[in-house]
Amino acid sequence: MTDHATHQHPAPHTHQHDAGLPALLDLDAQVLGDYLDGAAAWSAGLVHRAGTIVDIGSGTGAGTVALARRFPAAELLAVDRSPDMVARTLGAARSAGVAGRVRAVEADLDRAWPALGGVDLIWASSSLHELADPQRAMRDIFAALNPGGLAVVVEMDGLPRFLPDSFHGGLEPRLHALLARRGWNAHPDWQPGLERAGFADVQRRAFPTEGRPAPELAARYARAFLARMGPALEGVAAAGDLAALRRVLADRGTDSPLGGPGTVVRGGRTAWAARKP
Ligand SMILES: C[S@@+](CC[C@H](N)C(=O)[O-])C[C@H]1O[C@@H](n2cnc3c(N)ncnc32)[C@H](O)[C@@H]1O
Repeated sequence: MTDHATHQHPAPHTHQHDAGLPALLDLDAQVLGDYLDGAAAWSAGLVHRAGTIVDIGSGTGAGTVALARRFPAAELLAVDRSPDMVARTLGAARSAGVAGRVRAVEADLDRAWPALGGVDLIWASSSLHELADPQRAMRDIFAALNPGGLAVVVEMDGLPRFLPDSFHGGLEPRLHALLARRGWNAHPDWQPGLERAGFADVQRRAFPTEGRPAPELAARYARAFLARMGPALEGVAAAGDLAALRRVLADRGTDSPLGGPGTVVRGGRTAWAARKP
């Protein structure tokens, strides 16, 4: 993998504070977060026991909270290299009334893993591909799990889509294709890597998601995401396409393509579940 730009991560291999990311993660969870409950329920059907759960790269904590709700007897540990994300995860747990079962630690998993052991379920959502050495991380996940324990890896199938397919002759798919070439959301099929790490019974499931948020929420998410795409496309996308993107972002009129009544935001996740024999 040449580039760990993800989801929305602008600068591969740099660990700089990314001021816009938390808001975007929260908007994503609000609009397209159905997959969280779906993937947590799927995990619940596969895991043998779930006394201890670790969420790797917890971000703002939407996954940690979904897991805490799905597994009401579990103790959870959220891990993130960003102190801001750790604080946000704890805040999300408090707001959800599950703080008593959630701990969060700051750790850069590219450097050193916190002491983990005897874990029943390890969850990594939109985070495995951000690590410098995902194969090593899969081995570390394997080592931290109890025999019979479950690893669940979740990734975005593509970037979220806000505009009608036909808009400006397919503007959004064209821009997404360019971003994919720049490594945005680049991740492989994790099955072979999981098997190399020692896992068995690897299963894969798609969670297509369509959000139909309130117009104001849809517009906020769309603007935050599309504005983030702009700088990454400078000098890469055709001038006409960049101008069209700028026009969409500047259009606050009632017939703006972003956030009108009935706006559908399209996304989707794939999850892999793998068992330690
Ligand atoms: C795209 S966000 C995903 C957050 C959340 N899991 C979700 O699905 O919304 C990736 C998260 O992984 C964290 N992360 C990236 N590299 C990491 C590393 N080397 N060690 C620990 N956390 C890392 C980032 O700080 C960020 O919070």
